[in-house]
Amino acid sequence: MRGRPRPREQGADLRFHDLRTSRSSFLADALRGLARSPKRIPPKYFYDARGSALFEAICALPEYYPTRTEMAIMRAHIDDIARCVGGRAQLIELGSGASTKTRLLIETARPSRYVPVDISEAALRAACARLHADYPGLPIHAVCADFSRLLRLRPPIVRADAPRVVYFPGSTIGNFSPEEALRFLRRLAAWLGGGGKLLIGVDTKKDPAVLEAAYNDAQGVTAAFNLNLLARMNRELGADFELSRFRHRAFYDPRGWVEMHLESLAAQQVRVGGRMFTFAAGETVHTEISCKYAVSEFQGMARAAGLEPLAVWTDADGWFSVHLLSVRGPR
Ligand code: AVJ
Repeated sequence: MRGRPRPREQGADLRFHDLRTSRSSFLADALRGLARSPKRIPPKYFYDARGSALFEAICALPEYYPTRTEMAIMRAHIDDIARCVGGRAQLIELGSGASTKTRLLIETARPSRYVPVDISEAALRAACARLHADYPGLPIHAVCADFSRLLRLRPPIVRADAPRVVYFPGSTIGNFSPEEALRFLRRLAAWLGGGGKLLIGVDTKKDPAVLEAAYNDAQGVTAAFNLNLLARMNRELGADFELSRFRHRAFYDPRGWVEMHLESLAAQQVRVGGRMFTFAAGETVHTEISCKYAVSEFQGMARAAGLEPLAVWTDADGWFSVHLLSVRGPR
């Protein structure tokens, strides 16, 4: 073997773990949600391959300030953030999607392992292939799963002996109600253990007109994203939704969140998985909640969950926040 050129960097592992629980959960959740009053479908079902692509398009919209603002905050403070995160940590990203914001962290904080968790297999595989090509020395353990299933993240996916840093960007936490978010943060703190850290992007409360514009873009991409849920039920569950008979609706609820709905434009019946559902004219399916938190409000909730605020970074307008928190106690 002498004389053979050594690779510049040792190629690290790229491994894929499919931890999806059941292939029929979309059907079961859709039937259960449509039988409720008011009707609702969990937002995680937005993200099939088409939905993930539409979400990436939303992130580039002029009205959708969160992605761009969060990215600017990360860029402006990355040295500070990386120092607080610490080197050689295992970086576990919840709802990683295209992993765009993560590149900066990978380059600056130099984690020892990257564990992206996403429900969309297509988005996850594409993102990991690109990351693996660009960072050949970084071990990647990709996990296809609903990110709320934290307990399934155990060795060998994560190591027991290295510090854990969960990255939860994009204000995805907003998809939980405040009560659910508190419960989720408690479970996350327990899973992280003493010394574990959470780096989380949280959208803030602001002028409702700005919020409503962000979810009602002029090009109709958010409407297409919302309506894709009906198209996905047609494709995967043998449903017969007529998309032109529904419309996208999004509005700010002064209790502190944006709600998205699909509104039936007429009285109609729709078949889903062999069952019939009746819609009154004007009746809606609630598809998403997107909670907004003032900085102090989020810190209060985190403290109540056992997470100690270490630092927070915001943009000059205070439109978005990036929090770093840690779990008290020894590792
Ligand atoms: C990915 C949940 C943070 O709530 O702003 C964007 C999803 N929905 N436009 C958000 C979304 C409509 C997004 N999150």
